[in-house]
Parts: sequence; C-alpha cells; structure tokens
Amino acid sequence: MNKWRSPGTTRRHDHDPARRRLLEQALALAGTAAVAALAGLPPSARGEESAAPVSDPHPALDRRLSRIAFGCCAEQDRPQPVWGPVLARRNDLFIFLGDNIYADTRDMTVMRAKYAKLAAQPGFRRLRETTPLVAMWDDHDFGENDAGGAYPMKEESRQIFLDFWAEPAGSPRRERDGVYASYVFGPPGARVQVLLPDLRFNRTAMTPMALQGAEYQAWGRGQVAAGRPLPGPYQRNPDRAATMLGERQWAWLERQFEVPAELRLFGSSVQVLADFTGWEAWANFARDQDRLFDVIRRKRANGVLFLSGDMHYAELSKLDVNVPYPLWDLTSSGLTEEWRVATPNANRASEIVPDANFGWIDIDWRGEATTLAFGITDATGRERLRWTLPLAELAVRA
Ligand SMILES: [Fe+2]
Repeated sequence: MNKWRSPGTTRRHDHDPARRRLLEQALALAGTAAVAALAGLPPSARGEESAAPVSDPHPALDRRLSRIAFGCCAEQDRPQPVWGPVLARRNDLFIFLGDNIYADTRDMTVMRAKYAKLAAQPGFRRLRETTPLVAMWDDHDFGENDAGGAYPMKEESRQIFLDFWAEPAGSPRRERDGVYASYVFGPPGARVQVLLPDLRFNRTAMTPMALQGAEYQAWGRGQVAAGRPLPGPYQRNPDRAATMLGERQWAWLERQFEVPAELRLFGSSVQVLADFTGWEAWANFARDQDRLFDVIRRKRANGVLFLSGDMHYAELSKLDVNVPYPLWDLTSSGLTEEWRVATPNANRASEIVPDANFGWIDIDWRGEATTLAFGITDATGRERLRWTLPLAELAVRA
C-alpha cells in the first residue's frame, strides 16, 4: 500500500461551496496551511506544500528495513566492482547520496549520455533489478563541481534526475524547488524515515579561503610538503543569510521532523558534523548547521543518524556538545573515487578509509531494545569500520 496521499485527494470538496466554507471555518484553528490544502489551492499559490504527507511515494514503503546500504561518488567511465559486495548483502534499500555520475556539463545531451553509462554498468543494473533505491544528487550530477543555486541548467538537470531515478508522474517531489524528498518505510514500531535534503538547488555561493593572493593548488602543495593536513579551498560563509536549503525547503524539512518514525536516516550529500575541513560541508553554513540541531531539539526528533558522502574517503564523525543528544555522521565515499591526502576534522571519531567503499546500517528490530550496527565495507568486500549503538541513545535528553 502506498502511504502517500496525492495532493489532489482533498480537492473533491471544491464543488460544494457551502461545505467548503464550513470546512474552512472548522479548520481555521488548525492553521492556514490546512485551510489552503482543503481549499484546493495549487502549491504555487500556497507557497509551500500543505500539511506534510507521511511519505513521498515509493514502491517499497511497506517494507520493514533491516539491511540498508548507501554510497556516492561513482565515476560512470570506471569499472564499479563495489556492486559485488553491495549486492552480496541483499539490502532492503540502497541510498545514493550524490555524485552518482560525474556529469560536469551544461550540455544536457552529455548529461543524459553519462546517466546512460551508469545504467549500463552491470552491477548497477543488477542493483536496480533487485533492490529498492532512493537518490539525492551532489554537485557533479547536479551539473558542475561545487555548483549551487547559480548553476544555469538546474531546472533541466532536475527533470533528468527525476526521470532517471523513476520519480512517478504526479509525485509532489516533482513540484519542489529542488529534488529533496522524505520517505517512511516500514510498519509502526519499525519505521525508518529517510530524509534527503537538496543541498545544491538553492545554495548560496561558497566563500573561498583567503590565501593572501596565493593559488590554492600551489598553497596546497606546500601544506602537503610540510606534512600538514590539507583543508579544502573554502571558509565559513560569514553572511547570515547564506544557506544551503533555502527557506521553502527549510519549512518542508522542519515538518518532516514531526513525522513519526523510530529511526531517521538523514542522507546528506556533504558532511554534516565534520569541522572544519575546508571542503563543502554544513560547517561552511554555520546558521544552517545550528538550525538543524535546533530543529531536532525543538521537534524532539529522536533517532537521527546522519549519513554523508562527497569526500572520497570514509570516516565517522561524532558531536556530543551543544546538541540534543550525541550525534553521529557516517561518511562513505566513494563507490569508485579515492582520496589519500589527510583532511582536518576535529569531530573525527574513527580511522579514515581511503579506498573505494560503501556504508551500511543493520537494524535489529527484535526484542525490547532496537539495536543499530553500522559501518564501512570496501570494494573488495572487507569490512573496515563497525559500530553498534542502542537506538535508545539517539533520544532528546529530558
Ligand atoms: Fe560532491
């Protein structure tokens, strides 16, 4: 059964003006969004979606998820042996966190051709035949390296993305200012919400690091030669209005944290907790990052586990000060891409895995206390990192 309610289902009352007036009066206390929904106003007139549906549409919503895997950064022209160990796990869901292809173009014919190359990868083909998928993009499949809201082909790219990842016609996801999505899989007591914010479509430009006139490449070579870790080329954006999500998406995201779920997998294309890497991350947009922690606290949203990508290495980051409960960010990257230069991250809580890899989460729903195991496995099938965590530890402190 599909838990998603089409926005059209409440519009049949439009034809009876008296009933509509009554409903509007009765719902006045419920807030203007609900009234707008019953009045059948289109999303553009409302400025936002009406009362949040439980889940975006997906054919596998009824499935209880016990084995989940995720990954990102898959170069379509390279062999992708990582799918062997991914498929061997027999996952209930695979989450693509972006850079799923390296489009890097403003030519939409080129972008489509690169998606076709991913579709022709034998491992990916098998994955698509056997495993429910959800996907978010990052800069390279959005369109260009480190691109944000100024990328001129973003609307065309959005359509290609939604078509490639089989978003149903009529899905509310097709009406948004970006490709953000939220799903709730499984029955009450074992619900897994998968939140996929779009960190590209509305993003303010990055702020380059001040290097006193030096070129980043030359400066970076000096850092590495001196044995120092190499941060990326960006600094924190000091503009209070700077954002990755944009206000309309923020309003949507806040509502998603009200949706009941036991576990919330927050799939972020860039790292949520790493600080400070100098690469694209939530830490570059400090107000967005603060707001995210604040929303979790205000909504008493238990069960949040961050999943992230983009870095071309895997690691775990942990933050346990000034947060509603200890927060974990499992970074897996990339499915094909690798990076062997040390990057600073004061919240790093593990070794770095610099080889091609994927991330995974296993959920043991049996018994009183639900337990999570999560970790990183490399493209040869070797498990490289593993943790276990009682789900009860991801709960807002009283
Ligand atoms: Fe990226």
